[in-house]
Amino acid sequence: MSTDTTRSDITDSAAWEALRSHHTALAPRHLRDLFAEDPDRGCEFVLEVGDLHIDYSKHRITRETLALLADLVREAGVERHRDAMFAGAHINTSEDRAVLHTALRLPETARLELDGQDVVADVHDVLRRMGTFTDAVRSGEWRGATGERIVTVVNIGIGGSDLGPVMAYHALRHYADAGITARFVSNIDPTDLVAQLSGLDPASTLFVVASKTFGTLETLTNAEAAKRWLLAGLGIENDAAAGPDAVAKHFVAVSTHAERVREFGIDTANMFGFWDWVGGRYSVDSAIGLSLMAVIGKERFAEFLAGFHLVDEHFRTAPIAENAPILLGVLGVWYANFFGAETRAVLPYSNDLDRFPAYLQQLTMESNGKSVRADGRPVTTSTGEIFWGEPGTNGQHAFYQLLHQGTRLVPADFIGFAESTDDLTTADGSGSMQDLFMSNFFAQTKVLAFGRTAEEIADAGTPPNLVPHKVMPGNRPTTSILAPQLTPSVLGQLIALYEHQVFVEGSVWGVDSFDQWGVELGKEQAKELTPLLTESDPPVTELDSSTAELVEWYRRARGR
Ligand code: F6P
Repeated sequence: MSTDTTRSDITDSAAWEALRSHHTALAPRHLRDLFAEDPDRGCEFVLEVGDLHIDYSKHRITRETLALLADLVREAGVERHRDAMFAGAHINTSEDRAVLHTALRLPETARLELDGQDVVADVHDVLRRMGTFTDAVRSGEWRGATGERIVTVVNIGIGGSDLGPVMAYHALRHYADAGITARFVSNIDPTDLVAQLSGLDPASTLFVVASKTFGTLETLTNAEAAKRWLLAGLGIENDAAAGPDAVAKHFVAVSTHAERVREFGIDTANMFGFWDWVGGRYSVDSAIGLSLMAVIGKERFAEFLAGFHLVDEHFRTAPIAENAPILLGVLGVWYANFFGAETRAVLPYSNDLDRFPAYLQQLTMESNGKSVRADGRPVTTSTGEIFWGEPGTNGQHAFYQLLHQGTRLVPADFIGFAESTDDLTTADGSGSMQDLFMSNFFAQTKVLAFGRTAEEIADAGTPPNLVPHKVMPGNRPTTSILAPQLTPSVLGQLIALYEHQVFVEGSVWGVDSFDQWGVELGKEQAKELTPLLTESDPPVTELDSSTAELVEWYRRARGR
């Protein structure tokens, strides 16, 4: 099933033009005034989606803005494009592929055919195999080559084969209930592998080599080095007979490429597959989540998938005005294209979500960092929101100064929970640290929106020379996302909420959000440059003068 790539340029549309004039009128207005004029917006600009309570009232919008943004969604054909994705159309046009990460979380009773194949049956078949395998590891039935129980799972992968698993592990590691911890190796910088293997006993370590293509330089290089570490650690590096058996007990693979897995020396009986219709950055809920499943168990993993599915269904069926991913996605467009915001801060008030911003960076930037539209014509507006962030309250003591008083507009997403994973009493023993923590969340979003005026500051007795320094401009937009607790299901809901926002933005911009051609040339040229670095005296004359100089500097520094 192919799809239409010739969607017209949204910036030529009447909906875009209407938003442009509306922006001119609205931009000078302050959130203080918008709340004064529409005092109920705090209760009404709220969506409940599954366990997520989403407050978008502190955005620089009115009810008219929402109507105009809804027109934009209709004009851009976002719903049509969404339906095409869910149905398995090849909306990844440059690679002629379906985009069906939503099928990874369909319940077993659902049916979805792609080219005559029931993908739901395939998905659940892999999930069952993953469950059987992780049950065996968790129960101690699966043991290492010397008969030791597995206590550490080391995921070797990069990009989508790392960022999702490590983020989800950090978020859910308190659900570990089988004595298994996980570590993650991604970088080809050798210090990463060395640091992650430090202190581990090879006899009780299982490696999950996670690579969709099984052709990624970093992953294969690290996996080979891990193999050598294992064999040396077991004292069988020169034992040709024992080696393959040990590798079979200590290495499994997650990939779409069985042939390469076999060539690497991993038994394909220990390979967990997925499909080309799952993009790397959309794959944490596929077999790429194997390390997470080993830690939290297949039941919790099923809850994780159910969380995604809940938001998928919401995205698929809710009308535009109540559709959280649509609304938050077009708000991203509103700030990026009309207010000229360069970035969006993602600020989890949960230390367990410390890797969430990094995870979202790949999601948004690899998906929508495109300069041409799906039909190959240049885009006519900026695309690709830049997400960044750190957990609060740490960020408050680092970069919030710029958010509050800087010259740039940085819309921010605040994410917090009623219950924290652990709670402690405050210093005086009278309260909960979680209350203290969340009061910071509410205070920050309040100050960002409403600020403090020069008059208020002067009235508080501030010396006149300090007044301008203390003015808090406010009018800084935020979304507040709250949930009762960071459970596997809530994490799935949060991820799907962002996946679909990115989809909505990509649909409005008309780009192919599911390819990533821009990462290829660098990989190719790194391969070409490697011999120049490692050989003693190859000519660098073919290179530009800057790269030649850098390579020569490096060779001198390495004594070559
Ligand atoms: O280089 C970018 C990329 O292709 C990502 O899209 C992907 O998530 C990552 O590399 C890892 O790819 P693989 O899972 O095939 O090793």
